[in-house]
Amino acid sequence: MNRFTISEQFFIDQASASASGGLSTVLNRLTLVARMLASEIMRAGFVGKLGYTGTSNVQGEEVRELDVISNDTTLQVFENMPMVAAIASEEMEDMYVFPDGENGKYLIAIDPLDGSGNVDIAGQMGTIFGIYKRPEVGKPVTVEEFYQSGRNIVAAGYVLYGPCTMMVYSAGGPVNGFTLDRSIGTFFLTHPDLKIPEGVGAYSVNEANETKWDDKTQAMVETFRRQQADVGKRSARYVGALVGDFHRTLLKGGIYMYPGEVEKPNGKLRLLYENAPLAFICERAGGAASNGVMPILDIVPTGLHQRTPLFLGSKGDVEEAVRRMGKA
Ligand code: F6P
Ligand code: MN
Repeated sequence: MNRFTISEQFFIDQASASASGGLSTVLNRLTLVARMLASEIMRAGFVGKLGYTGTSNVQGEEVRELDVISNDTTLQVFENMPMVAAIASEEMEDMYVFPDGENGKYLIAIDPLDGSGNVDIAGQMGTIFGIYKRPEVGKPVTVEEFYQSGRNIVAAGYVLYGPCTMMVYSAGGPVNGFTLDRSIGTFFLTHPDLKIPEGVGAYSVNEANETKWDDKTQAMVETFRRQQADVGKRSARYVGALVGDFHRTLLKGGIYMYPGEVEKPNGKLRLLYENAPLAFICERAGGAASNGVMPILDIVPTGLHQRTPLFLGSKGDVEEAVRRMGKA
């Protein structure tokens, strides 16, 4: 660990190495979003921002006040950034194109506040982001430009809001983790070159959904629960916030699953701003990510809010889960 490597310098070094002008600025702006949201989340409990707004989002989920604040903050931070053309967010049905967006180079897909169900229990939450390049700059932005497979991601990452605030990202090379020193508002490199461990860690799934799964999914999860998986014994852990569950899985190994259900074969989680960015991080860290049939990163989206099943984590565990479901 190098206490003195700060995120700003790191982004600049990486960007100049890959000659991708503007990316370091976008990443720096994302750390500003992270710092602003960390502060909002920390204060929400005592300034009365924990409530519901009384509306539902495009997914039919109840919107919390902090969901709205997080989305607005993200849009404001990227307003007037000439390199960013448009944003697709969990909280907005349609993409948001910035004024002069047609001259922007990058598209951002973002879940501004993941796990907002944990807001009023002081639980973990997160932000997930994926950055894509536009196929062509200088033309009006179309929504189809977002329909790129995760293999095209230029940089992706997440921010974890917990006892500390961490940002973990990859620009295609190693996965690096930074921790926010809140007293000075700076992210320091604390977890360089993260690699996901094999053969250890937990299995993580909402088992209350068991009766909604098909027989093969039930049987597969049962092998993990009964500690009969080939990959070894597994404890159960479930934070209920994808970023929290994934962060633990990345650091400790194991598998996170949100399977499809008989009535909802695509499960719950969204491809563009949840599954693909985390799959990108996971693969770069040596792990795997599948929808049960194919790698998450190979799926080409057909909608901004498209859902896919998700099996994410150590390679051996993901391969075993997929094999046991007999789908690949
Ligand atoms: O964004 C969706 C989400 O809140 C994830 O953060 C979380 O992992 C998941 O939903 C939890 O879903 P459930 O309550 O169905 O287990
Ligand atoms: Mn989410």
